[in-house]
Amino acid sequence: MEEQNDKIVAMPRLGDPAPAFKAVTTQGEINFPADYSGKWVILFSHPADFTPVCTSEFITFASMEDQFAEAGCSLVGLSIDGLYSHIAWLRTIKEKIEYKGKKNVEVNFPLIEDITMDVAKKYGMIQPGEDSTKAVRAVFFIDPKGIIRTIIYYPLSLGRNFDELYRALIALKTADEFNVATPADWRPGDDVIISPAGSCGAAKSRMDGKEEMTCQDWFFCSKKLDKDEVLKKVLKK
Ligand code: BEZ
Repeated sequence: MEEQNDKIVAMPRLGDPAPAFKAVTTQGEINFPADYSGKWVILFSHPADFTPVCTSEFITFASMEDQFAEAGCSLVGLSIDGLYSHIAWLRTIKEKIEYKGKKNVEVNFPLIEDITMDVAKKYGMIQPGEDSTKAVRAVFFIDPKGIIRTIIYYPLSLGRNFDELYRALIALKTADEFNVATPADWRPGDDVIISPAGSCGAAKSRMDGKEEMTCQDWFFCSKKLDKDEVLKKVLKK
């Protein structure tokens, strides 16, 4: 039992390869993450089909699918429900449900059936303190090499902020493309952070104004990064 519980709560960590699995989805079978090799992909779980918070999330995510695709990122959903339940729920969403002015929304990204909880357990999506049979709202950002780069977890009662998920994707891609870090609440066009100086010499050189950056102190240096330059690099890639 102890061991089984350990398995249920085992969570992959940042920097780990995304655990591999094959699954049936509403868009056919997938081999994850191999089918997404060379692209970013967001794997996210939700507690159950035909529930209101999840429905509002699906409408929101589906209506942003083109925006994520433009940023080179696919979406893959999961819940511990069967394929026919998924199909019926997605049909109901399209035919009947309106959320924040969005209606007739078609969910075109794959939704994994995970009745056995095999995938949910691999990704630590079952958090027994929250619920032992429903997945929490987990979000895994997986990079083109299949490495987990960001994980965000929400409880059952809290719907996700999809603007933040998009912002996080763009910030991750910007950090990779320009070898920088992004400060609190960063958005394209804001200054970016240069990694702290790694030697006394580098710290001095920065404070002497010999580098193309603005330093408030040796460890806190930033530089401008043009919004168009960012968007040109991170979109359609
Ligand atoms: C919902 O998506 O509405 C929901 C799911 C599980 C528990 C509570 C709310």
